[in-house]
Amino acid sequence: MKFKLAFIGFGVVGQGLAEILIEKRGWLKERYDFDYEVVAISDMKLGSVYRKKGLDMEKVMEMVDKDESLNEYPDAVTGMNPIETIKESNADTVIEVTFTDMETGGPALDHVWTALDEGDHVVSTNKGPVVNEVKELLELAQKNNVHYRFEGTVLSGTPAINLAEDTLAGCEISEIKGIVNGTTNYILTKMEEGMEYEEALEKAQELGYAEADPTGDVEGIDAQGKTVILSNTVMGGDLELDDVNREGITDITLEDVKEAKEEGYRWKLIARTKKTADGIEAEVKPEKLPMDHPLAGVMGPTNALNFTTDHLGEVTVVGPGAGKEETGYSLLVDLLAINAALEE
Ligand code: HSE
Repeated sequence: MKFKLAFIGFGVVGQGLAEILIEKRGWLKERYDFDYEVVAISDMKLGSVYRKKGLDMEKVMEMVDKDESLNEYPDAVTGMNPIETIKESNADTVIEVTFTDMETGGPALDHVWTALDEGDHVVSTNKGPVVNEVKELLELAQKNNVHYRFEGTVLSGTPAINLAEDTLAGCEISEIKGIVNGTTNYILTKMEEGMEYEEALEKAQELGYAEADPTGDVEGIDAQGKTVILSNTVMGGDLELDDVNREGITDITLEDVKEAKEEGYRWKLIARTKKTADGIEAEVKPEKLPMDHPLAGVMGPTNALNFTTDHLGEVTVVGPGAGKEETGYSLLVDLLAINAALEE
């Protein structure tokens, strides 16, 4: 099937997907009968462009590399805001990759609502809308016979939500625990090597793991959001952000890390959601794990999830949790899932 794509937001993640789409166009067509035209891009910083017949994406990437505004793209409608782009373009699929606001979901929440309401599919790595209104958004998608997929909200392109919902279908999952924030795991790893907290955080920012405001990472808010997403999708819960008890890593000192190492333990920021007699209970907090724990060896920016299941016991997946290509890839997986569903 041929998709008409509109990028709402075209930062690192959007560009990551665009690069994969350009590079793999022929293979995707041959292997999955997946084809596409990017008809619109609307980005707060880079400008906005819409061309009904499709944009030359190599030209777009060249303009972005040269810091030229997309408003200068020739023979096209330019300057539309995200909502105008969603409403007025002929896109059938919206890639929502603007910045995330975990507390309110906005403005991404408006973008996703508008797109689904218009009858467009949505693929997104934006945590805000999923944390705040996933049930309502999925209901709207179902009503309008379109898809809303967000695999990259947890563990970027490393299978997480899809793994639980598709590959572990038929298993009852009673608990998920894991390392879902790359920045904090990187900081704790570097502290174990003797680096001070502040320097490690600076490095995590330089390497692009941290959110625009790294408070969200180190205080555990990013992990809290991902825990809500896992709780409300895979575990069938109905939690809000504040229902997840949260403690970040800011109170862990170099001394604590050193002491734990000497005792044969390692500090990790653990996200946990589990089924109890009273419903789903979830928390994010630093835990001192013994070295033989399946999550203790997960180092640097790498993430991991451990699922407790009835038929398989414990299943652990380890992989990247952030990054341009890794998160861009999660959007490709979502697009291919929609492609497969439409071809059924
Ligand atoms: N800031 C996040 C992290 C990025 O460090 O894991 C991916 O959500």
